[in-house]
Amino acid sequence: MTDLLQLPQKSCALRVVPQPSDANVHGDVFGGWIMAQVDIAGSIPASRRANGRVATIAVNSFVFKQPVFVGDLLSFYADIVKTGNTSVTVSVEVYAQRMSLTEEVVKVTEALLTYVATDSDRRPRALPVVE
Ligand SMILES: CC(C)(COP(=O)(O)OP(=O)(O)OC[C@H]1O[C@@H](n2cnc3c(N)ncnc32)[C@H](O)[C@@H]1OP(=O)(O)O)[C@@H](O)C(=O)NCCC(=O)NCCS
Repeated sequence: MTDLLQLPQKSCALRVVPQPSDANVHGDVFGGWIMAQVDIAGSIPASRRANGRVATIAVNSFVFKQPVFVGDLLSFYADIVKTGNTSVTVSVEVYAQRMSLTEEVVKVTEALLTYVATDSDRRPRALPVVE
């Protein structure tokens, strides 16, 4: 069943409209394209928390709840749910406004990714202490 929602009242990490080159001949957007955007969106709070570069070490879970179509306005919400010594785990939720036109919103994807703060040699680096 399709969930019709409002966009969350919090700041959006990324907004993007998929193009025909991101989809198959039927206009359905490739899952791999969505995964790449989710990775970018999740890296934004992770690199802010790390105050520098991060690398994606794990995609812990990824669910495509509804299809995404060319022309949808996609909004990516990314929240840190856990931090460790070097790692930051981020929840990413993706909502679609069909053909960019409607106020009705459908949650299309949810994912959990872990990033590791890295130094200039690409080795793990401790997260900075939060005051
Ligand atoms: C990221 C990288 C530098 C980490 O180095 P590493 O020696 O494997 O890291 P460690 O074993 O010390 O673990 C680092 C952190 O990741 C966490 N971690 C390791 N494996 C994990 C997994 N499968 N899921 C979630 N977290 C994981 C550890 O718990 C640790 O967190 P903590 O310090 O907060 O406790 C290295 O794995 C790497 O370069 N990977 C490739 C990254 C990349 O290129 N990503 C893009 C896609 S190709």
